[in-house]
Amino acid sequence: MSANRAGNVRMQVAPAGPLRGELLVPGDKSISHRAVMLGAIATGRSRISGFLAGEDTLATMRAFQQMGVRIDRREDTALEIHGVGRDGLRAAHGPLDLGNSGTSARLLSGLLAGQAFDSEIIGDASLMQRPMGRVVDPLRLMGAELSCTAAGTLPLKIRGGARLHGVEFALPVASAQVKSALLLAGLYAEGDTCVMEPAPTRDHTERMLRMFGVEVRSGDGRICVNRQPLCATDIQVPADISSAAFFLVAASIVPGSDLVLKGVGINPTRAAVIDILRAMGAQIEIHSSGAPASEPVADLRVRYSPLTGIHIPRDLVPIAIDEFPAILVAAACADGITVLTGAAELRVKESDRIAAMAAGLHALGITAEPAADGMSVTGGVFRRGTVDSAGDHRIAMAFAVAGCRASGQVQITDCANVNTSFPGFAGCLRAVGGNISEQQV
Ligand code: S3P
Repeated sequence: MSANRAGNVRMQVAPAGPLRGELLVPGDKSISHRAVMLGAIATGRSRISGFLAGEDTLATMRAFQQMGVRIDRREDTALEIHGVGRDGLRAAHGPLDLGNSGTSARLLSGLLAGQAFDSEIIGDASLMQRPMGRVVDPLRLMGAELSCTAAGTLPLKIRGGARLHGVEFALPVASAQVKSALLLAGLYAEGDTCVMEPAPTRDHTERMLRMFGVEVRSGDGRICVNRQPLCATDIQVPADISSAAFFLVAASIVPGSDLVLKGVGINPTRAAVIDILRAMGAQIEIHSSGAPASEPVADLRVRYSPLTGIHIPRDLVPIAIDEFPAILVAAACADGITVLTGAAELRVKESDRIAAMAAGLHALGITAEPAADGMSVTGGVFRRGTVDSAGDHRIAMAFAVAGCRASGQVQITDCANVNTSFPGFAGCLRAVGGNISEQQV
């Protein structure tokens, strides 16, 4: 699945002693994407701090630069975006290559549907196989003119100049990407665009639109916007809870560990990993920091604690969707059986995460039974072995965490894409006592 097989990376992890110390993991990926997108179509200059300088968010940044937006990088994680206004984007000279990033592809589909010019979206081998019909179909209902392959995949061609009109759309799957694509198209449509969610999903788009001065009406699972301009603002991106999750699990499973993760975004539509791990017996303390911002932030202290298998509540699944690779590693170290259901979406992430996790757990001697929409995992002991990450950043990092608690060395192949969401992951793990090395292959 990886586009980066040439010049790839292998990670080797040996069992570690306690993980201790303080860590600031990189900025939130979802919020960083949205900050660039909204900053680009706002009027005026927006300053973004804590930006994730990962390959996915840099792909979004490059796409807007290709469409004529000036973005100055003050330092690695600080951007100044010279917004061109809602109708100020220009046609790129050629397709927009969004690499491995599903969020860029889905959200940009909605935003580009409202432009006066034609565009085309492509991506790497993994992204080119991911479902786009879920955004194409509702955008067509709004009057957008787009075409993808017969299989519903990229390349996606978007015809400019379509007259969009608002719709009432009930999402068939709980997806923040689809919701956000429609809300962004709604900024260009006549009348109200309203999206109904079958279950709550991350609400960063709604929160950030409000930061940019857009009126968003929401309640009872229904979110509405209409055609409105955006005003530049400054955005502080919190540390990514999806990246912090690997350390929440690592410290929970390695005896003697005691870690503090600084400034982590704990938006309730993202933070269910904390609830799930606590239900398994994890010791996680939330130390709220400062005044409530548009995105709540806290320091998280996590200490080693024996875990017990649970049935993961289905209502928590959409709000912990990216954390299941890490959570399933915790399950493999828990006493008893952990059952995950209602998570069929994991099959269409950067890899088929149910298949990739089951294969990796088996390779390390853990009993795991995959199902169409989840998996059951029986706690045991990780033995030495080699795991294929399938080019998926979160699978790679989850098994690096497993390696910290294994009885021998764990090798993970095809890890270049860790840089899509967590550049410097191995360095962070080493900094708190992890025994990890990387090799270019
Ligand atoms: C994201 C939404 C989720 C998540 C992805 C980021 C977003 O995808 O898995 O990593 O930023 O909106 P879905 O909308 O497909 O669930």
